Amino acid sequence: MDMDLPRERFRIRALSRQDALQTLKHDVQDSMLCAPRSLPPKYFYDEAGSRLFDAICKTQHYYLTRTESALLERHADEIIAAVQPQACVELGAGTSVKTEILLSRLTAGSRSFTYAPIDVCEEMLIESAARLLHRYPGLQIEAVAGEYLSALQALPRLDGPVLFVFIGSSIGNFTETESKELLTGLSGIMNPGDALLLGLDRVKDRQVLEQAYDDAEGITAQFNLNVLQVLNTRLGGNFTLENFSHRAVYQEVLEQIEMYLVARDAQQVTLAEINETLNIQAGEAILTEISRKYTRDSIRRLLDGSALAEHMHFEPGDEYFSLVLANRR
Ligand code: AVJ
Repeated sequence: MDMDLPRERFRIRALSRQDALQTLKHDVQDSMLCAPRSLPPKYFYDEAGSRLFDAICKTQHYYLTRTESALLERHADEIIAAVQPQACVELGAGTSVKTEILLSRLTAGSRSFTYAPIDVCEEMLIESAARLLHRYPGLQIEAVAGEYLSALQALPRLDGPVLFVFIGSSIGNFTETESKELLTGLSGIMNPGDALLLGLDRVKDRQVLEQAYDDAEGITAQFNLNVLQVLNTRLGGNFTLENFSHRAVYQEVLEQIEMYLVARDAQQVTLAEINETLNIQAGEAILTEISRKYTRDSIRRLLDGSALAEHMHFEPGDEYFSLVLANRR
């Protein structure tokens, strides 16, 4: 573990590598062996993938991060005044850079405060914790490496009010049914007085959306292709990354971006750890991610279907993004 970490202010819980590998095997068996093939987006985020995602956030075309950061900077004080949190739990914390906008205020004057970041990438949790603990002497970190719902179960008891943070439009990776299940599960563990800060990307011009998922520097393409490297490493695969190309399409009717890896030629790929050989056709497209885009109406329906009530809603003048503060209904 990182030597810079003050152990008395940092704890991390992690799912066993064995359990994580079993889950990956089952997921790949369920999604890659039938047509149309797909992969759950959570597997993007090994250490390399998490760094590539961080690089995407800094590209010109990926407007989401800077738009949401600006909203957070502008409304942080209102959010904090409304909730007065004693602790913050974050789903999919990554580098925690946007959340730091809140944490810096919540720990002002070395005030004590607990931050519980959840992420599938343990390396990222440790690296971010080292930075935050160094900057904020009042901060206590209770990190959990794992998937959202199981990680939420593994949280220690926290003094409330708790501010749950689920930003970056990560909710968009889930289908409508899945997202309602996840948010309903979340509202189920919220106590009266707790709140959820949800960040959602909005429906907009197709070209703006498609460029955000196919940036000119090609970082999103590398990020997408990296998931094949994850399968090579963890499942003894022999994917040749050069044999696939990145594609991002906005499906207007479904209001979602879909990312694919398209096979350039017919090929056979072996995944030794699960004893499977895939016969992939030329032009065959593997769906690697959906990223749903929202309207004020679809946000309202999502919250309604998840036992949550909208308390505050912030958006910029161009309506590119929404930050919603919600309570349990
Ligand atoms: C982290 C899921 C919010 O969907 O915008 C970025 C992931 N994929 N570029 C998104 C992503 C391609 C991102 N989320």
